[in-house]
Amino acid sequence: MIGSMRTLAALAALLVGGTSLAYAQSTEVNVYSYREPGLIQPLLDTFAKETGIKANVLFAGDGLIERVEAEGELSPVDVILTVDIGNLANAKERGVSQPIGSPALERVPEAYRDPEGNWVALSLRARVFYASKDRVTETALSYEDIAKPEWKGRLCTRPGDHVYNIGLIANRIAVWGLDATREWLGKVRDNLAFPPNGNDRAQVKSILEGTCDLAIGNTYYMGLMLNNEAEPEQKDWAAAARIIYPDADGAGTQVNVSGAILAKYAPNKENGEKLIEFLLSDAAQQIYANGNYEYPVVPGVKASDLVESWGALNANKTPLTDVASHRAEAAALVDELKFNEGAQN
Ligand SMILES: [Fe+2]
Repeated sequence: MIGSMRTLAALAALLVGGTSLAYAQSTEVNVYSYREPGLIQPLLDTFAKETGIKANVLFAGDGLIERVEAEGELSPVDVILTVDIGNLANAKERGVSQPIGSPALERVPEAYRDPEGNWVALSLRARVFYASKDRVTETALSYEDIAKPEWKGRLCTRPGDHVYNIGLIANRIAVWGLDATREWLGKVRDNLAFPPNGNDRAQVKSILEGTCDLAIGNTYYMGLMLNNEAEPEQKDWAAAARIIYPDADGAGTQVNVSGAILAKYAPNKENGEKLIEFLLSDAAQQIYANGNYEYPVVPGVKASDLVESWGALNANKTPLTDVASHRAEAAALVDELKFNEGAQN
């Protein structure tokens, strides 16, 4: 907290002092990050060691895109690090980004970057099923399966309007169309054990407590919970569940991303591009894989041993820009079906 306040003060100083801004150009890069310091700092430290470019970081849980918008042409930020296709697409829509001019973008499959290069994914995460080891016998499940009556009173998830679930529902609309997704989501709602609440980890706790048999959650939380020394009770939650990749044998599991945006008015644009290039290097991709249990976005870089032990990821191939274009419809469906009130039938 104190660290981020100090960074905030440093950025504010850059903002008011035109000369210090120019001075910063050659050896600094300014980053706004939605991603936690524990993950990002080791990457930035390695970047500084390799290039001599020091990153000033402002960490915040929300509001950073709005902040950049409000700062306008005077914004000190060069690179924004965020999660979710919704946030990346939103940044471009709001006009706070510019094309990243680096051949390193071509290391990333087309489905995971903006066609105009305004954002690029840095890591992948799959949204999967967490199944009770004791009460679920199935080893393979499709998305259609969880709408079936045998799951009545057994499903749980965080609220439908969270960006992670909006991403999942938008992916289903891209694959199935709006009407089929409405029908599916209504049936999923009616299978919920209780009205959606809490985060992805809380659903896994419910599995241990026996109030839910099958949860929807992001892959990396399994790794974070299993290795959580600060809150070791989370190891027990995670140990009660195993991962099933939805549609692994079919059209594939929905994946979302973390990614980077190059700010429209980046005062240190070249350094920003160098930072993004670094984050797409094999070495940095390995840090994403081992430090946060995410999937590298660059083909050929291996996931961590723990992640590989969960099975092979067959990622659904729908381009993320298609998924993003269905986000508003997904949000409307969640409202229309009163998904957050839980089962109705
Ligand atoms: Fe997350």
